[in-house]
Amino acid sequence: MSQTSIVDVICQRALEIAPEVPWLVEPLTPGRGQAFILQHILRNRLFSAVIRPSWISRCPDLAIVRKTIGQMREELVFDDEIAQPHTTLLWEMGRNVGLTNEEMDNTRAVPLVDVALNVWENIARSKHWVAGWLATSVDEFMLTAMSGEHNYRPEAWQATFHLNDEQVFFFSYHTKADDDHAGRKVWEPIARHVTTEAERREVLDGMELALTADKLFYQGICELGDHIDANKNAA
Ligand SMILES: [Fe+2]
Repeated sequence: MSQTSIVDVICQRALEIAPEVPWLVEPLTPGRGQAFILQHILRNRLFSAVIRPSWISRCPDLAIVRKTIGQMREELVFDDEIAQPHTTLLWEMGRNVGLTNEEMDNTRAVPLVDVALNVWENIARSKHWVAGWLATSVDEFMLTAMSGEHNYRPEAWQATFHLNDEQVFFFSYHTKADDDHAGRKVWEPIARHVTTEAERREVLDGMELALTADKLFYQGICELGDHIDANKNAA
């Protein structure tokens, strides 16, 4: 068994990938902002209604199962701290950047996002449950732990869309909430559950695949966003 702890390897890899994601580090255009909301709506729902349930069904660690069900509840049903589900915040955020409820209710995945969603689902269904856990949390870690300016920070949305603090609550709240859902501390139990070299390989390979899907997810968002911007400029 290699010396570096598996959780350290996971954190390192995620932070290496983050600056390579153009949507995160290139300027946030209005189209790219809207595109993020429209595609994140789909990911958010699929993560909590389909993909997380799929890997927790094979997770033997009750504490992780309970925590994850709690997270699914916060996303789709009710977060006690803010007395509403995160989906409500997400729709509000969308309206703040000029989207209508109808556009958000009827959003469809663009091809690369569709590929990413299918990859994450496949990992959660067919690989070690820890790989599924990572597939549904590594992006949250990246977004909260990555240093410097990037587009998951509320400031970027304030600058592009001229919004006040209240109007970017979705992002300021999530920087905190996600900290509780992913990262070194949260992932600590992984070391206990991944004990053989074969398991370690399966989990790390699964995470690499999840990160590749993450790149595709954001690439799909960039393409959609650039398309929205081009249409607006032509209009
Ligand atoms: Fe959330």
